Amino acid sequence: MGCVFRREIAKRLSRVLAISEDELVGLIAAVPVKKGRPKADFHLPVQELLERDIIASKAEPKAIVENISRQVRSDGNICVTSAPGSAWLEFTIRRPLLAQIVLQRVSTDGACYGVSHGLLHNHISQKVVVEFSSPNIAKKFHAGHVRSTIIGNFLANLHELLGDDVIRTNYFGDWGLQFGLLGAAFQRFGSKEELEKNPLQHLFEVYVRINAATEREPSLMEDAHTFSASLEMGEPSALALWEHFRALSLENYSQLYKRLGVRFDEYDGESQYRNAVHEVVSRLRDQGLLQISEQGTGVVDISPSQDMSSYATVTRSDGSSLYLTRDLAAAIDRMQRHRFDRMYYVTDHSQELHFQQVFLTLQRMGHSWANRCQHVPFGRVLGMKTRCGDVVFLEDVLDEARIRALHSMASTDTTKVMEDPEETAEHLGLAAIIVHDFHGDIRRNYQFDWDRVLQRRGDTGVYLQYTHARLCSLEREQETQASNNFDPECLHEMPAIQLIQHLMSYDEALHKAWMELQPRSLVQYLLQLSRLVSVVHKQLPVKGSPSQVAQARTFLLCSARNVLACGLNLLGIRPVDRM
Ligand code: ARG
Repeated sequence: MGCVFRREIAKRLSRVLAISEDELVGLIAAVPVKKGRPKADFHLPVQELLERDIIASKAEPKAIVENISRQVRSDGNICVTSAPGSAWLEFTIRRPLLAQIVLQRVSTDGACYGVSHGLLHNHISQKVVVEFSSPNIAKKFHAGHVRSTIIGNFLANLHELLGDDVIRTNYFGDWGLQFGLLGAAFQRFGSKEELEKNPLQHLFEVYVRINAATEREPSLMEDAHTFSASLEMGEPSALALWEHFRALSLENYSQLYKRLGVRFDEYDGESQYRNAVHEVVSRLRDQGLLQISEQGTGVVDISPSQDMSSYATVTRSDGSSLYLTRDLAAAIDRMQRHRFDRMYYVTDHSQELHFQQVFLTLQRMGHSWANRCQHVPFGRVLGMKTRCGDVVFLEDVLDEARIRALHSMASTDTTKVMEDPEETAEHLGLAAIIVHDFHGDIRRNYQFDWDRVLQRRGDTGVYLQYTHARLCSLEREQETQASNNFDPECLHEMPAIQLIQHLMSYDEALHKAWMELQPRSLVQYLLQLSRLVSVVHKQLPVKGSPSQVAQARTFLLCSARNVLACGLNLLGIRPVDRM
């Protein structure tokens, strides 16, 4: 949002430095708000100007700062306020002007605040496919799928906010040998009633049983191959069973996604490509790219020097296709259907090599658009356990989070007047999980700890929700609606200025999230926003203040609530009004 100011500062600087405004604008950043006195609003490190050869000087950075500061135009609205001896050029906006412009933007831009007039305002809309969640029907939904679901949802939300045309794709693991194993397992250990009652649980149980049993009874593995082969050949009874599993799982997952507030535009799946893989393989053969290894598998050389130092396996020795082959077919199909500018695959980092192989094979096939595909890897979640032990079902995680949140809410008075405490608990639990997960670098593994996740204080989702609910309650208590007809002169105290400065830098948090394809900058931003709000709550009361002051403070807090709500929604968290 600080764009108006950044632009004006760039304009003034450009006159002195004799380079274009455009080049300068991206280097000017909001000063991060920290404890203590209000600092300048924008700054620019001189080092950056030297490194980019924007200025050439042998002088010390602080001397350069002094020199430039002396020459840049200062006036009542924007003042150069670089500290003596500092290596940063600093600029301060006239306080009432800052308050006026920032708060009015929050109010008029609404859900687009931070984009419309921010660093990303000239983002060119693109067609973006985000493939995420992608559980396996024949295996358990593990913590990694929870992560993929929330990270993918965030990426899709972010791109939608930027105005991109986003396709949310869920790519079910519903084909291949693992499915043969599941089919064989069901034929051996399955029960129709159990399957109807709790399909995912039951399928998982029979899957675990057969995995344990194959050690004692290797012939079971043959059954799995047989089942898999009959599926590949389209044998009706095998197909019917598979269809049934798939439909039940899909229904179950849809309910879970609804609970999460996550939607998909398409349910794709490996099975969709069971025929298309043949085309891929024959194309590879025609192109002379397919080689048969000593073991009889079909491989493609993807090494840079074409010496087979790295290769991708596309067929088994019996000629059947693999996970990778289906991914090739799926990518080609999606390109044909969507003509995407960008496609993300959100999975844990154990699949890094797999995606490298997919993209390189596509390149070798002549699909230059392969460079529009990107794997977004994340680390593993350690220790996410529920009542069922180590096994993680999304449903159990959500239930556990809700129960725990409900338990901690039971102590507060508002719970009694709440219409639907269960629903609030659900949103609290989910916020807790998401914020905990997004708090650091998503590429790192992290330790899951229920007690830490749900703390009311500290860097948690519960704290963010609590702040939102508290701001809502303040709005409810007001007789008059907060209006943008406020007197900005009333917001001159340090806590108010700091909150305004922070609101102004929302676009930088969004920009960073977009650059990094990571939510952490946004999470950090919202946590800091909540801390600043709490200082304002404490030090600048609304109740008992003269009406003009009360009105301005209310408007400030409403603006904070709006930005907090936007950020939470973007993270995939539904903000609660009471808790
Ligand atoms: N179903 C896979 C798994 O759970 C993830 C699928 C990722 N996407 C893909 N196009 N391969 O491991």
